[in-house]
Amino acid sequence: MLEVESVSKAYGHGAERVVALADVSLTVTEGEFVALVGPSGCGKTTLLNLVAGLDGVDAGRILVDGATPSASERLTRFGYMPQQDMLFPWRTVLENVSLGLEVLGVGKREARRRAAELFPQFGLGGFEHRRPHELSGGMKQRASFLRTYLLGRPFLLLDEPFGALDAITRAQLQSWLAETWNRIGGSALLVTHDPHEAVALSDRVYVMSPRPGRITNVLEVDLPRPRTARAAETAAAHRLIDALRRQTEAIE
Ligand SMILES: Nc1ncnc2c1ncn2[C@@H]1O[C@H](COP(=O)(O)OP(=O)(O)OP(=O)(O)O)[C@@H](O)[C@H]1O
Ligand SMILES: [Mg+2]
Repeated sequence: MLEVESVSKAYGHGAERVVALADVSLTVTEGEFVALVGPSGCGKTTLLNLVAGLDGVDAGRILVDGATPSASERLTRFGYMPQQDMLFPWRTVLENVSLGLEVLGVGKREARRRAAELFPQFGLGGFEHRRPHELSGGMKQRASFLRTYLLGRPFLLLDEPFGALDAITRAQLQSWLAETWNRIGGSALLVTHDPHEAVALSDRVYVMSPRPGRITNVLEVDLPRPRTARAAETAAAHRLIDALRRQTEAIE
């Protein structure tokens, strides 16, 4: 379970000082999929970086299962899929996907074996030895997701995984993730700009204000699980999406 308690964060000093987050609190209990929506620059990536342990908070606390691990201890707790896909162009897709495991000390051969096993499930079968530029945008995101998933961490931080894709590919990947999630389970904190994506995938949505980011609203998504590709097409889902759209438009 993750508890972010009254966390604040600023960058720079004096006239350069930017307050990215002001008194942000949120909770993700075990097995929950939680979304965070908010305008560009409101501090969403900052929040994920703090949770992941890439940076320290100025004020507030980050609790994991009731304890307060240091930032460096948190580095090993979360699977983090960053906003940029970070695939190295000179490595094959398989080499890219297995890289996270290799960094953790798993032997090259074993890391590649474990990664290769999952290629078909992630819709990447046959592309093991291609380079990233030979993949579609959606495939790159699935490869990046697979690299994160392979770390075997039960809590994923996903930073706009489909943000750079066209609308049709994004909708396809949302369905794919909803169904993949039914299989792999775990907890997640997803950053997204897209109210439809937030509702389709999550159990709860936190809405953030423009910078300095604060939580301005919380919406419970009471749709049945396991989710299917059509989960967000019901009348109940549309009401939630409309409500979320009004809230995010009101603050942008
Ligand atoms: N390392 C840093 N050094 C200085 N300023 C930073 C740093 N990281 C973020 N900021 C600033 O903090 C604010 C929040 O940035 P952040 O990347 O968290 O926003 P975001 O909500 O993820 O935006 P987007 O939706 O565009 O990805 C911005 O004003 C940004 O310029
Ligand atoms: Mg961001």
